[in-house]
Amino acid sequence: MSDIAVVTGASGGIGAAVARLIHEKSGGQLKLCLHYNGNHEAAEAVSAGIPGSFIVKADLSAPEGRKALLEAVLAQGTPYALVNNAGIDRPHEPALMVTEEAFDKIVATNLKAPLFLMRDFAKEMARAEAGVIVNVSSVLARKAVIGSAVYRASKAALEALTKQFAHELGPKGVRVAAVAPGFIETAMTAAIPEEQRAAIRKDAALGTFGSPEAVAEAVWHAIENQYLNGAVIAVDGGMTL
Ligand SMILES: NC(=O)c1ccc[n+]([C@@H]2O[C@H](COP(=O)([O-])OP(=O)(O)OC[C@H]3O[C@@H](n4cnc5c(N)ncnc54)[C@H](OP(=O)(O)O)[C@@H]3O)[C@@H](O)[C@H]2O)c1
Repeated sequence: MSDIAVVTGASGGIGAAVARLIHEKSGGQLKLCLHYNGNHEAAEAVSAGIPGSFIVKADLSAPEGRKALLEAVLAQGTPYALVNNAGIDRPHEPALMVTEEAFDKIVATNLKAPLFLMRDFAKEMARAEAGVIVNVSSVLARKAVIGSAVYRASKAALEALTKQFAHELGPKGVRVAAVAPGFIETAMTAAIPEEQRAAIRKDAALGTFGSPEAVAEAVWHAIENQYLNGAVIAVDGGMTL
């Protein structure tokens, strides 16, 4: 049995980079649990590059999926790190077009899933008096972009939960932090038309989109730095200045 680092959405761009970096920086000390939902092929490909890792399929927007992930992890060892990275940003609905269906879907994946995963994984971490949770938020928690009302609300609420859990879990030896990426080159942003991409680049002081690896570096910092708790680390090239 060993200490496990769980990365949700490890089949996606940022999750895969986070999983690879945790493996590298921990020198293999943390066994990687690579969670995915629909993209089995991508999860297998990431796992093939990380010795000792295992993959778990689960729809985290449903309680059964969250339970299945926890059970799969406990069968392999003790969770030390949880990276709540899985998330969706669609549909993009302008404020006056927001639907109840979109609200339920985005909130279930981006807010409800990390909340209850934090609750359940933190119980295990508190038992061991050691653990760290990193939630992946977004620059859009602090910035208006047309079509992002519900996504923005889900990430802003996730940051509030990050601070609340950090406050309540710190005394139990469990740290909680968040990383807030700007626009990163992954499947999530691949379909943005060039005209809009140019405007986004202009909006970031550094003038570019970021890489998944840059986000992974910040996640690793949150895992490694033993005095970091409740912080939201922006990795956005200077988009909210
Ligand atoms: N890319 C950006 O510019 C950007 C900016 C700010 C914040 N973020 C945040 O960063 C995180 C990762 O984004 P990404 O860019 O890497 O996106 P991505 O490549 O589209 O990956 C999204 C991941 O979430 C998983 N997922 C989606 N719905 C799920 C569900 N119901 N249950 C379980 N897993 C689910 C996907 O699993 P399958 O593919 O296996 O179905 C995939 O692994 C998200 O929280 C996103 O909001 C991204």
